[in-house]
Amino acid sequence: MSPSRWPKRIHLSVPHMSGREQQYVQEAFSTNWMTTAGSNLDYLEAEFGRRTGRHCVGTSSGTSAIHLGLRLLGVGPGDEVFGPSLTFVATANPVAYLGATPVFIDSEERTWNMDPEVLREALEAKSKAGRLPKAIVVVHIFGQMAEMDPITKVAAHYGVPILEDAAEALGATYRNQLAGTFGQVSVYSFNGNKMITGTSGGLLLSPDELAAARARKWSQQARDAGMDYNHSELGYNYRLSNLLAGVVRGQLEVLGERISARRAVFERYRQAFASIPGLTPMPNPPDHFHACWLSCFTVDKEAFGMSSRDIIRLLDDANVDSRPVWKPMHKQKLYENHECFGGRIAEKLNLNGICLPSSSSLSDSEQTFVIESIRSMHRKQA
Ligand SMILES: Cc1ncc(COP(=O)(O)O)c(C=O)c1O
Repeated sequence: MSPSRWPKRIHLSVPHMSGREQQYVQEAFSTNWMTTAGSNLDYLEAEFGRRTGRHCVGTSSGTSAIHLGLRLLGVGPGDEVFGPSLTFVATANPVAYLGATPVFIDSEERTWNMDPEVLREALEAKSKAGRLPKAIVVVHIFGQMAEMDPITKVAAHYGVPILEDAAEALGATYRNQLAGTFGQVSVYSFNGNKMITGTSGGLLLSPDELAAARARKWSQQARDAGMDYNHSELGYNYRLSNLLAGVVRGQLEVLGERISARRAVFERYRQAFASIPGLTPMPNPPDHFHACWLSCFTVDKEAFGMSSRDIIRLLDDANVDSRPVWKPMHKQKLYENHECFGGRIAEKLNLNGICLPSSSSLSDSEQTFVIESIRSMHRKQA
């Protein structure tokens, strides 16, 4: 019963070049700044600084920016760090890099992000036990921001800093405030599958100029100022390449268009599936401007006639890439023995959730094929 196949694989989320990237890449070539310094990198840090009001540091990836950011917040061996269970593993791993322990918090149904009430309960329990976490990593999954007001309020009440993982949410806002401007440290990703890309790369954002300068130094092997190779602190090779910064620079010029295109993709799915029982779009509460990095739905197996996994398998047969919603961290072999406050919502979203092809370059005919494939699966079951 597999629908017909699309001739060329329809991927989940692909890079979408504008053509403007090449001039900046060429500039790196022609000036010979083929290294981790140069005008593209300077521009990117300054331009993101202008847009966000933060001090910005270009990094080799979002993951390395999270690593640096957690270290800025003082995370070290023996500490606990809170984070959502429902996320990509790159949110949690840097906690472990620093010898600290990730503790997971369940999601709420209305945003799919960290549940502020569960967070409050977890902080209260830890406070009573005299063991508050060193930091809270808040993630904005699939392009929609977490409920930041209650989260920042309860974090401030217990005096715990927030690292904002906005890897998936460049351009999203909460109450008109941009993702990446809430945390004591925040992070963007320019991975190839993100809103805009440099092939890889990331950005660390901080309201504190000195903190940003420390992160920049750590990202370049923490060499002390002066002629000699003096090192008084541990560093990493985490700096963003000037060449890749050129790609991001060109992409940044079309960020608004990319967001609009992804939002239009989601809206088209939403309208097309409104008449099909059992397919529910990811909720989008008021005050949350959803950047729609990925178009996500939940599948009610009874109402639709098959499970999200069945749909994913049949789409795969049709040459279409779709994925389940992130597998919760507390269900990963790597982190299965870690403490998790709640977890049932994250498990349910993983079980029933599906992410559909969401590229800003997805053509009308490709999307029509995806929609019709899913429609025919339902019809055959009805
Ligand atoms: C939520 C989240 N955090 C962090 C990352 C890591 O970003 P990068 O791939 O740039 O290291 C990603 C994506 O890869 C992500 O989806």
